Amino acid sequence: MLTLAITFYDVVLTVHILAVVVAFGVVFAYPVIDAQVRRASPGDLAALHRLHVVLARRLVTPAMTVVLLAGLYLAIDRWSLGDPWISATLAILFVLFGLTGAVLIPADMRLAELAERDGGNSEEYQRESRKADLFGGLALLLVVVAIFLMVAKPGV
Ligand code: HEM
Repeated sequence: MLTLAITFYDVVLTVHILAVVVAFGVVFAYPVIDAQVRRASPGDLAALHRLHVVLARRLVTPAMTVVLLAGLYLAIDRWSLGDPWISATLAILFVLFGLTGAVLIPADMRLAELAERDGGNSEEYQRESRKADLFGGLALLLVVVAIFLMVAKPGV
């Protein structure tokens, strides 16, 4: 007979992975959304940057907090915070908090102002935009590395 033994650990792992999807799913769509708005609707650039800020504050940061709390429970329950794949991902998550709060949100606020002022055509807008794209790309790369570490668990 098939028995279903669902543990609290399974529930927390599901919450952890769901929070990863919620936190980072939308961010992986940004390159396509941004390119489309730049090409087809440049007058909406300021609104686009404001939307990035709202999503970073109300969706990405709270969901990253859930990733952290659920991850801590999982690590302490069955693993150890000293395991390299866990401590490395913990460090990556803190870098992601820092990048979001200290670099990406301020950059999008600045870009929204610049886009409102001169429609996104100024040299300053282009410079800020390249910087935001660079750090946004770095954040995406870090998420990919984090997922690999979580799945492969090197050292176990
Ligand atoms: C960007 C941050 C993170 C991402 C993208 C992420 C992603 C994932 C994914 C996809 C899994 C499922 C892996 C599998 O079942 O093979 C997982 C599991 C897990 N994560 Fe994370 N995670 C992150 C942060 C953290 C943090 C900060 C901790 C601990 C402090 C943590 C602890 C764990 C543990 C212990 C598991 C369970 C592994 C298992 O039982 O197989 N995660 N994570």
